[in-house]
Parts: sequence; C-alpha cells; structure tokens
Amino acid sequence: MLAIQVDSLTKVYKSFATNRSITAIKDLSLSVQTGEIFGLLGPNGAGKTTLIKVLLNICFPTHGGAKIFDTDISDYRIKKRIGYLPENHKYPNYLTGEQVLKYFGKLSGIEDKDIMRDSIDKNLELVGMTKWRKTKIKKYSKGMMQRLGLAQAMINDPDLIFLDEPTDGVDPIGRKEIRDILLNLKSQGKTVFLNSHLLSEVEMITDQIAILNKGILIKEGSVKELTQEGFEYQITLDQNVQQEKLDELRTISDRFSNISHKFSIKVSNTDELNDLIDRLRKAGLMIESIAAVKTSLEDLFINLIKESDKKE
Ligand SMILES: Nc1ncnc2c1ncn2[C@@H]1O[C@H](COP(=O)(O)OP(=O)(O)OP(=O)(O)O)[C@@H](O)[C@H]1O
Ligand SMILES: [Mg+2]
Repeated sequence: MLAIQVDSLTKVYKSFATNRSITAIKDLSLSVQTGEIFGLLGPNGAGKTTLIKVLLNICFPTHGGAKIFDTDISDYRIKKRIGYLPENHKYPNYLTGEQVLKYFGKLSGIEDKDIMRDSIDKNLELVGMTKWRKTKIKKYSKGMMQRLGLAQAMINDPDLIFLDEPTDGVDPIGRKEIRDILLNLKSQGKTVFLNSHLLSEVEMITDQIAILNKGILIKEGSVKELTQEGFEYQITLDQNVQQEKLDELRTISDRFSNISHKFSIKVSNTDELNDLIDRLRKAGLMIESIAAVKTSLEDLFINLIKESDKKE
C-alpha cells in the first residue's frame, strides 16, 4: 500500500484583502511507498511546507487531492497514524520537555497513564533528551528544541512522520544523531516524509526524492538514479603513456580534447563508452582504470533549478 498518493494537486492562496493570488503548488502528482524515507527538496518558497500542510488538511487543496494510507486526507481519523514536526515550531516556554510531550500526547488522544509514561520515556530516550526532561524549555538550545520536536512528532507512535526541516539549527553531531534516528524509524517499518535544504544529508538517508520549484515537480526518483544520470567516467591511462599518442588523439577527435594521463569523459550510453575504449586501445594506449563519476545531489539540484528557471 502507498503511504502517500498525491493526485494532480493545486494549491492557490488567495488574499481577499488585496485580491492577489499565489499558486504555491501546481498540478502535482507523486507517491511515497510505505516504509521509505522520502525527501522533498526545493528552494525557499517552492511549496514544500504548503504540500505538508495540505496533506495534513491544515489548509485545503484548490484542485485535485491526496490519500494517506488509502484514506482521503479530508478524513480526520487518518491523523491518528501521522506525526508532524512543523518548521519553526514553538511550544509554551514555561513547560518542561516532559510536559510538552504530555501535552501533545493528550492532544493526540493518549488517555492511558502507563502508555503515556512509556511513550514519553521511550521518545525522550530516542532523541537523547532524558537528562533534560525536567528542565523548562526556555533553557533549551536550538538543537535541543529540534530533538524535542522530533520526540513530539513520534509521541503517538505514528506510521507516517512529516518532518519539516528537522535538522535546522542542529550541529553536525546532532544532525548525524537525527539521521540515525530516522534510519531507526525506517527499520521499524515507519514512513518518513522529509523536507530539507541540506542536500548532502538527504543524499545520505533518503530512498526517493522529489524536487519542487515554484510549485512544480521538476524531478523525481531515487538518489542513486538521479545522481548517476549523465554517465560521466574517469579514465586513467598507464602512467608512462607517450605524449605524442595523446596529441594525436586530440587531433583525431574533439571528444579527446582534454585527454591526459587521467581524464573525464561524458557519454550518453554504454555503447558510446565502449566505442571510446576501442579507440583508445586502437591507438595503443594502456587503460589502467575506468570509474563512473557520480554527480552530487547538490550539482543536480542546482542545475535543475537553473534549467527550470530559464524555461519561464
Ligand atoms: N498562508 C499563506 N498565504 C499566502 N501565501 C502563502 C502562505 N503560505 C505560503 N505562501 C506562499 O506560497 C509559496 C510557497 O510557500 P511554502 O512555505 O510552501 O514554501 P517552502 O518550500 O516551504 O519554503 P521554505 O524553504 O522557505 O520553507 C510562497 O510563495 C509563499 O509566499
Ligand atoms: Mg517551508
């Protein structure tokens, strides 16, 4: 079963005062498999938070719709299976960490005292905040607030967790810990929907990603698929390669214009790669290694956003 299915969704914010409208999401369709970590990426204002809010039925779609675990998002009962960490969350700062979790536990319908205590203990432990449970949150650092937010999102033992920038303001060690928590949740069969700007981080843990720009889905796929597009290879020749042979190749084909002992070359398919290898071998060159060059998610992201902005 799909965890999330979004179907031709459009969200237009209208201001009745100024009569202006902003299309935050435009005809978006995507699906998230149960049990995966899904990363939604996009620059500021792309519509990431809006999509989460529509899925949670905090604001309503203008056209189209979506389902969560095969249930229409307008059915409030589905919320029992969902956890949510909003971006820039704020809790009443006179509460302690433990009280915040109790408050949200009650809001999510936990009535049994033992279940409540177990859930608070378990989640504080999971995010490494047990030591600070009796401290008022006004004394918490940004990273501690973020961890508490994560515990809050999991208080009702949800099957699907929406996290809007969960590592915002967290130091590198804390970010690594949060990544481990997310992988742990995945290993328990939970689905994680993550909004993030931190591309290198997303690259490390997500199964599938979608890139959104100005409300439009511009790319979707696994990190592996997307970062291997473009087929770039680094070819290393024998150290003692004769300079004349390289010069000769440069004049024969402009594909070899950057040729040296170690060089990179882009091809569009495996046939083309093999053709190049044949030519190098025919020229009597000894190949030492051929390695696929991976583009980083960051390079891919920047190129796609630039391309999509140019099209406008
Ligand atoms: N309540 C609202 N009323 C009117 N416009 C809104 C509202 N919320 C968001 N918008 C607009 O919708 C667009 C998408 O905003 P959204 O917050 O979803 O982006 P985002 O991708 O989450 O950005 P960020 O990375 O900065 O968090 C923006 O142009 C924003 O100004
Ligand atoms: Mg946002």
